[in-house]
Amino acid sequence: MSTTSRLAVLLFGFLFLPGYSFADGRADVGKNLAVQLCATCHLVAEDQKSASIDVPTFSSIAAKYGQEIDYLAGFLADPHPPMPNFSLTRREIRDLLAYIKSLK
Ligand code: HEC
Repeated sequence: MSTTSRLAVLLFGFLFLPGYSFADGRADVGKNLAVQLCATCHLVAEDQKSASIDVPTFSSIAAKYGQEIDYLAGFLADPHPPMPNFSLTRREIRDLLAYIKSLK
């Protein structure tokens, strides 16, 4: 195998390996993150018992921004007050967005 095709195989594997994709995060991981980090304020899941009344629910966020994932990714990378900044990694943001997208 030539060096070029070996590189191509490597690159392909890296991009498409489950959980390592740049295109899509993992909704199950995102849900766990949401329950841990976001559920004190946001209603993140239907079975959640309590949340702040004046904070948008994740399903309303999904309905509003489902088509604008880039906007949400930007917001989560640098949220404005009153949203706290969790310094999320790109992976965490991708997983959270995969979960939010799944709520639509
Ligand atoms: C301390 C409470 C609090 C926590 C914790 C919190 N948020 Fe928020 N979030 C808010 C508030 C308040 C708003 C509404 C901000 C506004 O209207 O300007 C908001 C808005 C948002 C929005 C919508 C932004 C928009 O422009 O409409 C998104 C998306 C969001 N939060 C995601 C998250 C995620 C993901 C987490 C967990 C990693 C999280 N939030 C944790 C309080 C919180």
